[in-house]
Amino acid sequence: MVQLKKKKSLTKLVGYGREALPENLVIEGIISDPEKMAKLIKEMMSKVKEGKFTAEKVVASIPDANVFTRVLELPKNLSGKELKEAVYWEADQSIPMAVTDLVIDWQVLGPSHGKKDMNDVLLVAAPTSIINSYVQLIQALNLQPEALEISLASVIRALVSNKDKDETILVADIGQKFTNFGFYEHALKMSDTLEVGGDNFTDAISNVMGLDGAKAEKLKISSGLKDKKVEGAIKPALASLRDEMQKIIKYHDERFEEKTAKVILCGGSSNLIGLTEFLTDSLGIQVKIGNPWVNIDTYPLKPVPRAESAAYASAIGLSLRAMEAGK
Ligand SMILES: Nc1ncnc2c1ncn2[C@@H]1O[C@H](COP(=O)(O)OP(=O)(O)OP(=O)(O)O)[C@@H](O)[C@H]1O
Ligand SMILES: [Mg+2]
Repeated sequence: MVQLKKKKSLTKLVGYGREALPENLVIEGIISDPEKMAKLIKEMMSKVKEGKFTAEKVVASIPDANVFTRVLELPKNLSGKELKEAVYWEADQSIPMAVTDLVIDWQVLGPSHGKKDMNDVLLVAAPTSIINSYVQLIQALNLQPEALEISLASVIRALVSNKDKDETILVADIGQKFTNFGFYEHALKMSDTLEVGGDNFTDAISNVMGLDGAKAEKLKISSGLKDKKVEGAIKPALASLRDEMQKIIKYHDERFEEKTAKVILCGGSSNLIGLTEFLTDSLGIQVKIGNPWVNIDTYPLKPVPRAESAAYASAIGLSLRAMEAGK
């Protein structure tokens, strides 16, 4: 979690902290025990090591893996009611869940490529069960919900700099269990999730090299791809990550007739030593690690260790959203 405040032209850090959750507190995106989660978060807020938490409002993200997004091409001349009907019709066709079990939202992105009578409309749908569990959590925390958004939208807000804002960028959040992909073109345009993450790398090292999980995790972090044995063990998982990136870039570039100009990585596993070089070489596109702290003044708090930086992207982007809204 992260709390920021505006001070003149600066964005100042008020507090930050990070804690691993017990297994099974979040199951398929649903917070299984909101009261328990609230208790853990309150403890974290009161005992945070850096800064303090004083906010009354909260912006939270729901996991990309459990959210459905799709860009639809719909006629520009639809009335508000017709637009809603078209979006619900599409959700009903393409999501394997009853629309009555979903919270559905949409955003008109702008004119479709080469079709002057059509608009691109971003459809976002999440299971009501997930949204309700977040609402219960926020109530149990005694905070006011300001917004919920998909994690990638916040990651993109934190990572795409002003300099890059007219580019087409693939943001890849490589976490522990999942990698989330999002294409940015002035807004989140398309997203996808792959069930590959740091755990796969650790498991591979553990299996191939016959090490227990903790040793394998340590070796992964200290050596990364610069150790030939470790590299050999991780290669299959890395190759599937790379192949998936290649596929999704090709699909995006054809579908939207836009060339993806660069890839920005974030998430803890983006720190894997040698990963950016590996991806740059094999994708033939510029790949860099995004720094979500780049526009934030952390003084007088202790700066976030570089290796941990990438894991804060989502929380920073969420906090930025609240500030953009002038709250
Ligand atoms: N220096 C490093 N080198 C390689 N991997 C690292 C490094 N530092 C952290 N990781 C990995 O990052 C992962 C955690 O990343 P992150 O905190 O972004 O995950 P998460 O958001 O909790 O998971 P998910 O998004 O998959 O639900 C772990 O698998 C960890 O091993
Ligand atoms: Mg994550």
